Amino acid sequence: MGSFTHYGFLILALLFSSCMVTYGGNFFQEFDFTWGGNRAKIFNGGQLLSLSLDKVSGSGFQSKKEHLFGRIDMQIKLVAGNSAGTVTTYYLSSQGPTHDEIDFEFLGNVTGEPYILHTNIYAQGKGNKEQQFYLWFDPTKNFHTYSIIWKPQHIIFLVDNTPIRVYKNAESVGVPFPKNQPMRIYSSLWNADDWATRGGLVKTDWAQAPFTAYYRNYMAQSFSPSQFSDQKWQNQELDANGRRRLRWVQKNFMIYNYCTDIKRFPQGFPPECRRF
Ligand SMILES: *[C@@H]1O[C@H](CO)[C@@H](O)[C@H](O)[C@H]1NC(C)=O
Repeated sequence: MGSFTHYGFLILALLFSSCMVTYGGNFFQEFDFTWGGNRAKIFNGGQLLSLSLDKVSGSGFQSKKEHLFGRIDMQIKLVAGNSAGTVTTYYLSSQGPTHDEIDFEFLGNVTGEPYILHTNIYAQGKGNKEQQFYLWFDPTKNFHTYSIIWKPQHIIFLVDNTPIRVYKNAESVGVPFPKNQPMRIYSSLWNADDWATRGGLVKTDWAQAPFTAYYRNYMAQSFSPSQFSDQKWQNQELDANGRRRLRWVQKNFMIYNYCTDIKRFPQGFPPECRRF
């Protein structure tokens, strides 16, 4: 009677939908403001969010939901004009003294000079895995998509779908990897003119305040554990084009890599820096 086919189809559909849970769109539903009072705002019925910074305070928000592995996408338009001294952060983090964290930080600059995109990874409360990049576009003119793919095997940072950094799980050589603590998504805009721009030489010009960054098209997909035992998912790191794009970014836009900072590690680089 075709009822078997119907049930079969239904079961398949259920299996697929339980693999990946997608949240997105509405900022009212997905985020809470954490500080800065009315410096954080949501517009357009939940489609657009802004953070601002003035001499008194910055501002920030965090996701209501926690994720253990997944893909997070956000479009951001960074503080335009003279943004020197300001830092816009966008990161995943768990709580507590042995927290895990996956960071994007955007360090502002004077008009016409390049932002620095700073990345880092914390596991069990320890970071020290910095890589920094210039961008191949002006991140203040338009929205661009900044994404994190977090799986038990690796973490990938992407900008407009171009992978800029792949951090592999190095537990096999004794390096902790974030994989047991669920994380929330956080973002903030604050004053860091003691270190952000040219190492703290350029101070925030408060005559330009308030400084404002904009967010839209947030999407979070949670991966379920079943996807990681599946061979197809495990091997799905980067395809040939992704590897080519990654090499292009690392060659032309990477300005700091802790794994090549010999002054910092005179006794030898951390184990995850070696190929294994
Ligand atoms: C700001 O511009 C200066 C000069 O081009 C550059 O050295 C620096 O890396 C830029 N970015 C930051 C965040 O300091």
